Amino acid sequence: MMRILHSVSDLRRLARTHRRDGKTLGLVPTMGALHAGHASLIQAAVASCDKVAVSIFVNPTQFGPNEDFSRYPRSFDADCALVSGEGAGVVFAPTVEELYPEGAASFVEVEGLSGRLDGASRPGHFRGVATVVAKLLLAAEPDRVFFGQKDAAQVAVLRRMVTDLRFPTEVVVCPIIREPDGLALSSRNIYLSPEEHRQALVLSRAVRRVEALVAKGQRTASALVSAARRIFAAEPEVRIDYVELVDWATLEPAETALPGTLFAVAAWVGATRLIDNTILA
Ligand code: PAF
Repeated sequence: MMRILHSVSDLRRLARTHRRDGKTLGLVPTMGALHAGHASLIQAAVASCDKVAVSIFVNPTQFGPNEDFSRYPRSFDADCALVSGEGAGVVFAPTVEELYPEGAASFVEVEGLSGRLDGASRPGHFRGVATVVAKLLLAAEPDRVFFGQKDAAQVAVLRRMVTDLRFPTEVVVCPIIREPDGLALSSRNIYLSPEEHRQALVLSRAVRRVEALVAKGQRTASALVSAARRIFAAEPEVRIDYVELVDWATLEPAETALPGTLFAVAAWVGATRLIDNTILA
């Protein structure tokens, strides 16, 4: 039977009981509107932890003033059905007031990395992400926490935070899940019209092009970025936010593609901002 918890104290009590019983706990933080990408995180958690909690919380502090917080897709009942179907035992669904008590003035800032990639075009975004994930980790103290590689810059920020604040939690990163046509799954894909969906395929095409060039031996960042930009040029309606080759740990620009280097793109398709990436082999 899956349990739905709403308060931090209930989650903390449940987590402590599990730990006392010698059971491992996995946490999958989400903002709901769950899709097959989230399902893959839950499956990885269920496969490696005795108990799994999935948090569903649309975190207001990671949205900018002109972003889509109020219209972000919310589908709580369907989300709970998916979580239960994947075999996770707990949904944690706090209210905004529960995670941000009145007058809340404490935030977690991961300096440097938070201003790179998505953080450059979404000021304050990673401060909101780091803050809410820190709150979740403090409440659940999970053995493992699961994130998708799709949000590669978020992963870098959160890995840094987990290391810096010595959270006793292992960060597990799961592969990007794609539509059969290549589009990386995202809760925001439902904003796309059929024509925008077609245009959005340029992101995965650019990623695949860079993977192919690296496989052929091209390692120079400027050549890889130019090749990806040429792919984007074929879809002039799509507005590039960034096309970058960076060190995945620091998010600093890389001049050469080494194993583990992150190639990441972000672009606006109509009113929807999408991201995609690959970790180079
Ligand atoms: O990746 C997300 O869905 C969110 O950024 C996260 C990690 C759940 C924090 O709100």
